[in-house]
Amino acid sequence: MLSSTLLKALITLLTARPSTAQGIGREQTENHPKLSWKRCSGTSGTNCTSVAGELTLDANYRWIHEKAGYSNCYEGNTWNTRVCANNTDCTAKCVIDGADYKRTYGVSATNNSVTMNFKTYLDYATNVGSKVYLMQDGGDGYEMFRLVGNEFSFEVDVSKLPCGVAGSSYFVAMPQKGFGTAGARYGTGYCDAQCDRSVKWINGEANVEGWTPSTNDQYGGVGNKGACCTEVDIWNANSISTAMTAHSCQPEGYSVCSGSDCGGTYSTSRYGGSCDPEGCDFNPYRVGVKDFYGPGLKINTSKPFTVITQFVGEGSLLQGIKRFYVQDGKLFANPEPTTPGLSGNAMDQAWCDAQKVAFKDDVYSFGQHGGMAAVGKGMDVGMVLVMKIWDDYYTNMLWLDSTLPTTADSNKPGAVRGSCGIDTGEPLQVEAQYPKSAVSFSNIKFGPIGSTFEQPADT
Ligand SMILES: *[C@@H]1O[C@H](CO)[C@@H](O)[C@H](O)[C@H]1NC(C)=O
Ligand SMILES: *[C@@H]1O[C@H](CO)[C@@H](O)[C@H](O)[C@H]1NC(C)=O
Ligand SMILES: *[C@@H]1O[C@H](CO)[C@@H](O)[C@H](O)[C@H]1NC(C)=O
Ligand SMILES: *[C@@H]1O[C@H](CO)[C@@H](O)[C@H](O)[C@H]1NC(C)=O
Repeated sequence: MLSSTLLKALITLLTARPSTAQGIGREQTENHPKLSWKRCSGTSGTNCTSVAGELTLDANYRWIHEKAGYSNCYEGNTWNTRVCANNTDCTAKCVIDGADYKRTYGVSATNNSVTMNFKTYLDYATNVGSKVYLMQDGGDGYEMFRLVGNEFSFEVDVSKLPCGVAGSSYFVAMPQKGFGTAGARYGTGYCDAQCDRSVKWINGEANVEGWTPSTNDQYGGVGNKGACCTEVDIWNANSISTAMTAHSCQPEGYSVCSGSDCGGTYSTSRYGGSCDPEGCDFNPYRVGVKDFYGPGLKINTSKPFTVITQFVGEGSLLQGIKRFYVQDGKLFANPEPTTPGLSGNAMDQAWCDAQKVAFKDDVYSFGQHGGMAAVGKGMDVGMVLVMKIWDDYYTNMLWLDSTLPTTADSNKPGAVRGSCGIDTGEPLQVEAQYPKSAVSFSNIKFGPIGSTFEQPADT
């Protein structure tokens, strides 16, 4: 035990040091997995050059401990209030440490492919899920994508993702350098359209004050602060369902909210924030096309396929988002909806407006927060690529692959999103039953519309 005078002296010393916000721990060496991707031009899908990149693990998943020692600053699902009295105190005293990507988090990359395993077993603990960001090679910043007028494609293997587990690839308007000394290299700066309050470090400060541990997640909780920004979920999927969702925010870039003013998943007032928590989405099953995506279906999710997403528009003016798939050399466009009142397979403002009416949603939060125009502005800020494997402690992933609200009549337009039962997706159950779930993303390509894939002869 340190004497209280010594402790006080130590605290004074630590808090007096300038610019120590979000420092780095040195117990575990940080070696970013390397992932190469391609920048394309032209219209053939063959004029691409390889770009060296690397992945960094989101700060929330990392070990946070006392700068002066090994004591955990965050343990289980709570901050250690013996170490951390408040946000400033904790920020000065705690550091974010490196990650053993493969052993602890089940993340491994080779050349142009990354595999993310759902559950890993350590000597005294297990890890569930992970989230990584694409960084510039050897640099200290995230790779920033300006999506409007461009197209993003990748190959994905969802065959090992059952009901309740999702593999996601999406874009958020995070700051390129993250925050503090830890910066982007240690995965700081996350934000999304739920104005995420489960983030442990927000705007360079620990999110200790008001932290309420989750009642069902032994690792998670919710703090007073939340981090908001535009979010474009090009890919939330498992082997059963897939959804592409755009969420608008005003302001479009990074902003910090407080308490229930955050809205979204983590607040009691869902619609009280500066972002749209629902989004405008395109899920083939949800719009009535039940034979398109799944094991043995048109897009046979039992084997890999390529996902192409086009962001039609110019400058910051986003007209709409289009989706294509390629499997076994065949090209498939997103299918035409069969839900009455919906038509067209491109997600644009008119499509979103029509969806709101067709699904009889009470609140049109996508429109209220600026709609497609705001999403385009958010893209113009520059966006970071996120890849994630996860289960859902809030809604058991039912919004993606089952029926929600669970009591809804299955004929209610928009209620049924996939063929999974309403009793599936409970996190502790899926973690026990499907520990070997995994997703892999490969062959990432980015460039002007038409540049990342060769239109197959047989379409
Ligand atoms: C490939 O792209 C480069 C850079 O945009 C361009 O200069 C070149 O003409 C392209 N080549 C072909 C064959 O399209
Ligand atoms: C934060 O906690 C420290 C250490 O207990 C204390 O000295 C400081 O006054 C507190 N600051 C605020 C804003 O409460
Ligand atoms: C990765 O790239 C290297 C060099 O091009 C090659 O020798 C190796 O076979 C590749 N590995 C995989 C798993 O594709
Ligand atoms: C779907 O893919 C799996 C794995 O390759 C294969 O065994 C199955 O026959 C395919 N189903 C159809 C209908 O093509």
